[in-house]
Amino acid sequence: MRTRFLGTGFAVPDRVVTNDDLSEMMDTSDEWIRTRTGIQERHWVREGETGVELALAATRRALEMADLAPSSVDAIVYATSTPDHFAPGNGVFLQRALGVGTIPALDIRTQCSGFIYALSVADGWVRTGQYRRVLVVGAEVQSTGMLLTTEGRNVSVLFADGAGAVVVGPTDREDRGILAFDLHSEGAHAEKLWVDSPGSRYHPRVSVEQIEAGRQYLDMDGKEVFRHAVARMPESVRAVLAATGRTTADLKLLLAHQANLRISEMMQRTLCLRDDQVYNNIMFYGNTTAATIPIALDECVRQGRIQEGDLIAMTAFGSGFLWGSAAVAW
Ligand code: UT7
Repeated sequence: MRTRFLGTGFAVPDRVVTNDDLSEMMDTSDEWIRTRTGIQERHWVREGETGVELALAATRRALEMADLAPSSVDAIVYATSTPDHFAPGNGVFLQRALGVGTIPALDIRTQCSGFIYALSVADGWVRTGQYRRVLVVGAEVQSTGMLLTTEGRNVSVLFADGAGAVVVGPTDREDRGILAFDLHSEGAHAEKLWVDSPGSRYHPRVSVEQIEAGRQYLDMDGKEVFRHAVARMPESVRAVLAATGRTTADLKLLLAHQANLRISEMMQRTLCLRDDQVYNNIMFYGNTTAATIPIALDECVRQGRIQEGDLIAMTAFGSGFLWGSAAVAW
């Protein structure tokens, strides 16, 4: 038995923030942001709007495509690095918002690779027959955790808010569905892209001193992350395709984590992929961390760019470092 996709959906806040808007908050420019990252605009929540609300909107669209009622979901796997609260995780808030029974809700904290890791858990549950219909969400609200001044500009021009959701279930067809995963971590680089505080190693977990030092903001060594990302993602794509006995020549579409258009372009060159084999939408959404892949997936499905039988690869790299890929025969 394999796991196939039954429905996809995404949602972003309706507040659009352009590069010119950012130039009014910090010393940056539309030209710098476009040239270095490819980003033109992104969506940020309004005050009071939550990650779970975005996840719920994305979930409703995925369920509608799958022609399923919320009550038919057997389990939730929710990937986010930006939960609405320290505890409990967002999974239970989504379970409550969906108005479903006491189904399991698991939170995954693997940042940019969150959707790939979450999908691998859902795949295991479906293939072993433990759960038949699993909702997999990748959703983030990054905008409330960024320093919106010149000091924080290397991070705050990149990251943004959004949610993607898929519903997966079993298929008997050996040649369809999720074929393989390739998953990795390297904690030696944990502090190269992280949020230090609040944390349970501190007494108290958050203090005025920490806040004044800005340790609650996402902090990134951009050059190091870039250097590892352009090596690890192509390596992982090749590995996951090799596990299925295929190569990049067989690939209909690569859906890569949208961290920086320059990273995606370098990866495309490394893997010798044609333009029609890759999909980029970072121009309009920025880096939405765990949400980038399910957002791109839903856009491609609705645009008819993915047809039955097509070989798709998904790949992500980010904070941890954590990275990984999935290969899917649609
Ligand atoms: O989701 C996965 C995690 N994230 C990533 O994969 C991101 C990976 N890294 C990157 O995308 C890039 O490193 C950045 C886009 C973050 C930065 O680009 P860069 O080409 O590596 O720039 P840099 O950090 O070397 O900075 C170059 C200059 C610096 O000025 P000086 O020291 O040369 O005077 C920065 O202060 O650009 C300056 N700078 C900016 N200028 C205008 C940094 N950010 C900005 C900004 N606007 N937003």
